[in-house]
Amino acid sequence: MLSRKTEDYLEAILNVTLEKGYAKTKDIAVQLGVRPPSVVEMVQKLHRLKLIMYRKYEGVTLTPEGKAVAEVIKYRHDTLTAFLTLIGIRDDIADRDACIIEHELSKETVEQIRRYVEFLQTPRARLLLVEDFARFCQADMLRNTGPVAGKP
Ligand code: FE2
Repeated sequence: MLSRKTEDYLEAILNVTLEKGYAKTKDIAVQLGVRPPSVVEMVQKLHRLKLIMYRKYEGVTLTPEGKAVAEVIKYRHDTLTAFLTLIGIRDDIADRDACIIEHELSKETVEQIRRYVEFLQTPRARLLLVEDFARFCQADMLRNTGPVAGKP
């Protein structure tokens, strides 16, 4: 069982690798919004766990084990982001919240959300549910100008 932080690093390394072919400390730091020294520490740990390979001038690449974990987390992230976006959450918030939930949900829940996302993306569901829900939310926001549930 890997920690949330470990999973976040593997996911970030995968994202940078998909873009550039390998991941340098600076790019991982930017992707995660952390300082490079924290990345160096974690990279050493991931290397000890045999989840990444390190080459001095090229940076970091994932081992097959690291890649397997990273791909599961990325799949969860993309599924949850798509779902949150479809229910009207702003892109940056959807992205941040997906990164929080992705570690905790059961496989069954993620799969069912993935099916629901696919269903919501069909033209009929888009018209009947997604767009109707967006109108409902707009009307609700106009009616309810008080504090939002769960927020101070
Ligand atoms: Fe994430």
